[in-house]
Amino acid sequence: MSEAGAGAGRREGFVPMLVRQARRDLAQAPATVRRRLSHGSRAQRAGNVAELRELAARRLPRAVFDYVDGAAGDELTAARNQSDLRALSIVPRVLAGADVDLSTEVLGQRIAVPLIGAPTGLTGLVHHLGEVAVARAVHAAGSLYVLSSAGSCGIDELARRSPGPLWFQIYVGPDRGLVRSLVDRARDAGYGALMVTVDVARAGARERDRRNGFTMPPRVTARSLAQGLRHPRWSIDFVARPRILSQSALLAGAADGGARPLAEMIGSQFDPALSWSDIAWLQECWDGPIVLKGVLRPADAQQAARLGIAGVVVSNHGGRQLDSAPSTIAALPPIVDAVGAELEVYMDGGIRRGVDVLKALALGARACLCGRALLYGLAGGGFAGAARAMRLLVDELALAMALAGAGSPSELDRSWIMGAD
Ligand SMILES: Cc1cc2nc3c(=O)[nH]c(=O)nc-3n(C[C@H](O)[C@H](O)[C@H](O)COP(=O)(O)O)c2cc1C
Repeated sequence: MSEAGAGAGRREGFVPMLVRQARRDLAQAPATVRRRLSHGSRAQRAGNVAELRELAARRLPRAVFDYVDGAAGDELTAARNQSDLRALSIVPRVLAGADVDLSTEVLGQRIAVPLIGAPTGLTGLVHHLGEVAVARAVHAAGSLYVLSSAGSCGIDELARRSPGPLWFQIYVGPDRGLVRSLVDRARDAGYGALMVTVDVARAGARERDRRNGFTMPPRVTARSLAQGLRHPRWSIDFVARPRILSQSALLAGAADGGARPLAEMIGSQFDPALSWSDIAWLQECWDGPIVLKGVLRPADAQQAARLGIAGVVVSNHGGRQLDSAPSTIAALPPIVDAVGAELEVYMDGGIRRGVDVLKALALGARACLCGRALLYGLAGGGFAGAARAMRLLVDELALAMALAGAGSPSELDRSWIMGAD
């Protein structure tokens, strides 16, 4: 065939192809338009957690975004959580073959991925579906979610609306009768473990919240009104379906009707005099496994092991408590060395990429908890956004494991990491 003939043939083929494509696009237009305009669509197209964070910054009023994104003081610890993770290199093993299986076991329960939904308070401020959406996203990925005692969703309600594996996180306040009743309720609702947060002797100095005049419940001021008008989607959602604190959080004295600065509200939920003897008391109230969240010293982890505690979370509360506390990835190895054989060690703080999870696993964490990444997703697109955040982290982790030549979390060890002391 001559070149001209071939060209004409291509043109003949090309035009019908264009027509066919245009017809198909037109036929699908309503669905595509609906999808593109839907709340979750932008979030579903996000290519990484950083893009979800940008979307969250656009969708949330400033004070709410800062509540999620912010940390204590100069936010040194929050920044180090991420920069110390990034500073580590992963040394791949070649010619190792094999498929990747991300599943692992936490407190005797098999989970499909080593990523747990961290407890976050006031999640309903971010989106009316709050903890329900995040728990469903985590459950859909085959893992477990930890409900905060400062959450926007009740203990029973979450168990009913997202019936996957759940743990209950508690701030131990001065009213022990109330602590006991919350713990009883969590047991009756089938929560598998009690996570006691021990790094909130006082509320951390969250300067962004102070600057924004962030109170609980939120107070309507000229500034918050202006912010609300600039974020109509969030505002309509918030006004139509306000979800701030759950019944149990209200009971715990988190809000007494009047607006209080957030730091004060958090402070009222925690007993500054909490000690090891209270942990022993909690063990009497709760016959299942107990996990301490917020441990950074090997000696504290050893004390937990002596008391028969089932696990510790190496955590600095995402940098929201003591600014200048070490990054969690730096604190992890000495704690694993001290107690890794006696109890389960988890880590949270700064997880934004699948490679971050791989590094923590290689340095001895059994699983990572994930806070802000899921909240950015929730803000960006409700359930679809939280699910997107989870999907991104899981897919990135699976790819990183394959490229690193590691078939499963249990195969990983320190030989994979370069740059840790
Ligand atoms: C908005 C927000 C609320 C939080 N609320 C709680 C809480 O109620 N209880 C708790 O133990 N930790 C709470 N945390 C800390 C998380 O459980 C977790 O330790 C931290 O988010 C991990 O760091 P990352 O956000 O960098 O993943 C909160 C964190 C954020 C960002």
